[in-house]
Amino acid sequence: MTHQPPTHHLTDPFGRRITYLRLSVTDRCDLRCGYCLPQGFKGFEEPEHWLDFDEITRVVAAFAHLGVHRVRITGGEPLVRRDLPRLAAALGALPGIDDLSLSSNCTRMESLAEPLYRAGVRRLNASLDSLRPEVFARITGGRLDRVLRGIEAARQAGFHPIRINTVALGGVNDEEIESILAYCAERGFTLRLIETMPMGSTGQAALHQYLDLQRIKERLDRRFTLIPDILPGGGPARYYRVGASDTRLGFITPISQHFCETCNRVRLTVDGTLYLCLGQESSYPLRPLLRAGIDEAGLVEHLRRALTLKPERHEFREQPGKIVRFMAMTGG
Ligand SMILES: C[S@@+](CC[C@H](N)C(=O)[O-])C[C@H]1O[C@@H](n2cnc3c(N)ncnc32)[C@H](O)[C@@H]1O
Ligand code: SF4
Repeated sequence: MTHQPPTHHLTDPFGRRITYLRLSVTDRCDLRCGYCLPQGFKGFEEPEHWLDFDEITRVVAAFAHLGVHRVRITGGEPLVRRDLPRLAAALGALPGIDDLSLSSNCTRMESLAEPLYRAGVRRLNASLDSLRPEVFARITGGRLDRVLRGIEAARQAGFHPIRINTVALGGVNDEEIESILAYCAERGFTLRLIETMPMGSTGQAALHQYLDLQRIKERLDRRFTLIPDILPGGGPARYYRVGASDTRLGFITPISQHFCETCNRVRLTVDGTLYLCLGQESSYPLRPLLRAGIDEAGLVEHLRRALTLKPERHEFREQPGKIVRFMAMTGG
């Protein structure tokens, strides 16, 4: 992977430089986290609407031309998309892309960690909401042992850094945060706590479990002393060093303290829709253009046009019922 200085930039109407693409390679998932996808949900995108690997690679190449140099593969659960390492290798080989990362629930990581690492994926965000098998099953419908083996396989394969994403859920896992932090500290992982967002009916229903992370931070600070820290490529999280240790703890607080002013990203869904903001409807359809045979210069022009639609900020707090799509559809 090489990072040649881009000749063009992508800047939104609020002066924010866009350098980061979240790429959802499927909206399907083998888990059903209560705040994300409804039980028994079947309304997934039709496979003929999915962008194929060539189409995805063309869009990412156009973004790279405009200075986007970081791509995170997400979903749904990205590892359920067949042949994902082949796509990852193609993206990693694009001139300008110097950071290829993955968000995963890690249920399938045991068999895919090595091929993905060989394909050039280096950084991993793994979802882990509980270390208690029964609580994990209640939240996700899945098996904790399998996920822990998957995370370990990623560590063995060389993924670094590995960040554990934990959605903080009042009355469910809030008393476990210290144990999850200890699990991370023992393995050199960074823990990131996330506030629930009202995405779709599931996310809106989960608002009754919403925890203001400022309060959790105060609790952890009393116990460990949290020292403000800056992590390169840290994104929206606010990071702290835990006492005198090397362990990092991040807080992602879209509700209690939003971070839209530093937003540097856009999201591409599996059906080729570009979403300009996780918490707004603004979008731009790229699939019709790709299927009509648009060339790269045309695609670049449309990406510029799409960027004029990027909203200033989400309104999760002011309008919690606004976004009907589930997080798994846009890619978290
Ligand atoms: C949608 S998932 C996609 C990638 C992968 N399936 C995973 O779970 O890591 C990405 C992240 O979004 C988070 N997420 C999903 N729904 C959410 C919600 N309503 N509020 C906050 N975070 C949410 C998940 O916990 C996960 O960390
Ligand atoms: S958070 Fe990830 S693992 Fe959980 S249901 Fe949503 S997409 Fe699947």
